[in-house]
Amino acid sequence: RSAGIIGAPFSKGQHRGGVETGPDRIRAAGLLQRLQQQGCAVKDYGNLAFEDLTDDEPVRGSNRVRAVGSANQRLSEAVQAVKKDGHTAVMLGGDHSLAIGSIHGHSAAVGQLSVLWVDAHADVNTPLTSYTGNLHGQPLSYLLRELRPKVPALPNFSWMQPCVSARDLVYIGLRDVDPAEHYILKLLGVKVFSMSEVDQLGVARVMEETCDYLCSRGKKPIHLSYDIDAIDPSVTPATGTPVVGGLTYREGLYITEHLCQTGLLSAVDLVEVNPLRGRTEEEVRSTVSTAVDLLLGCFGRVREGNHPLDYHLP
Ligand code: ARG
Ligand code: MN
Ligand code: MN
Ligand code: MN
Repeated sequence: RSAGIIGAPFSKGQHRGGVETGPDRIRAAGLLQRLQQQGCAVKDYGNLAFEDLTDDEPVRGSNRVRAVGSANQRLSEAVQAVKKDGHTAVMLGGDHSLAIGSIHGHSAAVGQLSVLWVDAHADVNTPLTSYTGNLHGQPLSYLLRELRPKVPALPNFSWMQPCVSARDLVYIGLRDVDPAEHYILKLLGVKVFSMSEVDQLGVARVMEETCDYLCSRGKKPIHLSYDIDAIDPSVTPATGTPVVGGLTYREGLYITEHLCQTGLLSAVDLVEVNPLRGRTEEEVRSTVSTAVDLLLGCFGRVREGNHPLDYHLP
């Protein structure tokens, strides 16, 4: 098992500055060293450089469409390269519009995917349903095949095609879903474990059912798209759109531990860590260190304790 890390310092899918500093903060918290200490080979592909587009007027009410399209094209190519090198891809965001390129590139490299979207939000607005015009609230509308007829052609998006089927998508953690998004999820019959189901079933059953559901039509590589705002803001407050009533630290971590055990985890996004949104240094530290712990969980760290395969008692 090896991790190929891509930093994506991009924030134009929303309007709050700071989320572009997420990748460097997560690295500075020791992600690479700690992955290596737990026996994981790591290759850091560095941070992507994104074009600075000056003429990027709103398109049908959506903001920075050209910048988002072009950044995601670069990211898609980077993820394809990481997958071709044989690594589990780790994309450090940046805002959640980056899931467009990450999932597209992953699918281009390995074929059909299962997608697990862990988030307070559904991020499935189309440009025509979005209240905010922010593309970080829209990535799944571009990725889902079933929504193609409902999504207008946008500048700098012609490189991509929808590559995910609604039946290969599962959500965990939802608690702030817009009316049009809720309609879409019901219309497409998407599998959703909102915070109500986490309360009702417990996270262990949610993960069992998630894996059974995703594996029921064959074992496809899994793409985990983890928005840090899925976790409760008492733990991860340094994010742009915090919502009360989220996953506990333990529930959030359990998701990664269980997914790792499937052996199918093939790419991970960790997005929406915004160090400038922390009111104190402690809020930032707690948010960033939770992000690191979630990634360590994806690569085999377990809370019972860990030791190297070749360990010998002295
Ligand atoms: N539903 C809202 C919107 O469309 C909020 C989206 C928040 N997304 C996120 N990735 N944090 O703008
Ligand atoms: Mn969110
Ligand atoms: Mn399972
Ligand atoms: Mn999100």
